[in-house]
Amino acid sequence: MLKTLSGRFLILTVIFVMLAEVLIFVPSIARFRLDYLTDRMERAQIASLALLGTGDMIDDELEVELLENAGVLNVVLRRDSLRQLVLSSDLPGPVTRTVDLRDPSTFVLIRDALTRFVTPTPEIIRVIAEPARGGGTQIEAAIDTGDLHMAMVDYGITILWLSLVISVLTSAFLFLAVRRLMVTPIKALVRQMRRYAEAPEDARRVIEPRSSVRELREAEMTLRDLETQLTQSLRQKERLAQLGSAVAKVSHDLRNILTTATLLGDRLEMVDDPTVKRIAPKIVKSLTRAVSLTEGTLAFGRAEEAPPALQMVSADAFFQELCEGEQLAVDPELVRIVHDAPPGLSIRMDPDQLHRVVGNLIRNARQAMETAAQPGTITVSAGEDDTGWHIRVTDTGPGLPPKAQENLFQAFQGNVRKGGTGLGLAIAQELVRGHGGTLELEKTGPEGTVFCLVLPRELDAA
Ligand SMILES: Nc1ncnc2c1ncn2[C@@H]1O[C@H](COP(=O)(O)OP(=O)(O)OP(=O)(O)O)[C@@H](O)[C@H]1O
Ligand SMILES: [Mg+2]
Repeated sequence: MLKTLSGRFLILTVIFVMLAEVLIFVPSIARFRLDYLTDRMERAQIASLALLGTGDMIDDELEVELLENAGVLNVVLRRDSLRQLVLSSDLPGPVTRTVDLRDPSTFVLIRDALTRFVTPTPEIIRVIAEPARGGGTQIEAAIDTGDLHMAMVDYGITILWLSLVISVLTSAFLFLAVRRLMVTPIKALVRQMRRYAEAPEDARRVIEPRSSVRELREAEMTLRDLETQLTQSLRQKERLAQLGSAVAKVSHDLRNILTTATLLGDRLEMVDDPTVKRIAPKIVKSLTRAVSLTEGTLAFGRAEEAPPALQMVSADAFFQELCEGEQLAVDPELVRIVHDAPPGLSIRMDPDQLHRVVGNLIRNARQAMETAAQPGTITVSAGEDDTGWHIRVTDTGPGLPPKAQENLFQAFQGNVRKGGTGLGLAIAQELVRGHGGTLELEKTGPEGTVFCLVLPRELDAA
């Protein structure tokens, strides 16, 4: 309760209203006492006037009755400098104080009233007042203050109750007003912020200023500007990231194609034709430059590949073309690339994407064998069963280094080969997953490595 805005308002209002009531109470209790005493004096005057009318003879019983009715103990009238005790009874004690009601100051009235209010013991006081018109020059009466004190306490209690009711009502109204005007809009603002934070790149979630309260509206407008800016820059970043990773992938495979072209260019230089001899080095130089350019763009991340365009492809023809192309890039004395697929086998695949996948696997094996200068064979084999097709790329190379095994298929991580980027296997796996298949390292060791690729028959396995 104390922690909420409306709760604090509620409690503060109760306190403030009570404070205001106390400030009002002080003058009104003084007024109450003055009225009380004035009333007594008027009654005393009436009683004494009644007596004066009957002449001097009065019996005791009537006197007591008159005094009781007036609520005083005795009455003294002063007329033309003549002091006359008009009514009297036995005083229960001595007169301890004189209160002069003729022209009293506000301060004295308040002080005397508060003193009376807090003094419960009754005393006898002498009150002096100016009589109502025609009643002489001065009237005095002795009064027992017991009744006065009780009446003042009753009055105080009434005021206290009244203040409580007023403060509770005021607080309740204020509480509701604060809720409506402040708490509800603030909560709505917070809700909006949460909603926006869930998907800040969604421009539909940017706040629309609605409040009619100026301060809240300013807050909403500032927030709208902030959210709009954030959403825009997020979108821009996202686009740039996508662009970056797309460029990285294109560059990766482009570089491999260019590397093959460079090797072919190298061969051209061996041709004895003088024109070819002159041009070939230039081609190789241009290609080398292109390779280094693509390598420079490879610092970008990964992106979603387009979904594969599946079709049935003859395995034999597919591998034939792939292996011949790769074979051109390597000395056949060092690495022989062969393929082995049952005649008539067709595999459902996106040929362009699978070309990149198997190409990457062959290239990795070839590069490892070249680096180790270890002659051997790379075999691409394929087969099918009830669940799907499998393609294996087997080499007789040196096996994967431990660091490459730890970070297998992770972009930019597994790369330990000089000049490699560590994207090849990551891209290959992503493409195979796009086919709903799996790419795994089946075995690796000093006698060679086998990567196995499985493509499912069931399409919804993707
Ligand atoms: N058949 C293999 N024999 C030995 N090591 C391999 C083989 N295939 C992959 N590797 C190792 O795994 C690493 C990661 O391969 P990956 O294709 O992901 O990256 P890369 O070949 O280094 O770079 P990129 O292919 O991006 O040019 C390679 O650097 C290499 O060390
Ligand atoms: Mg590679």
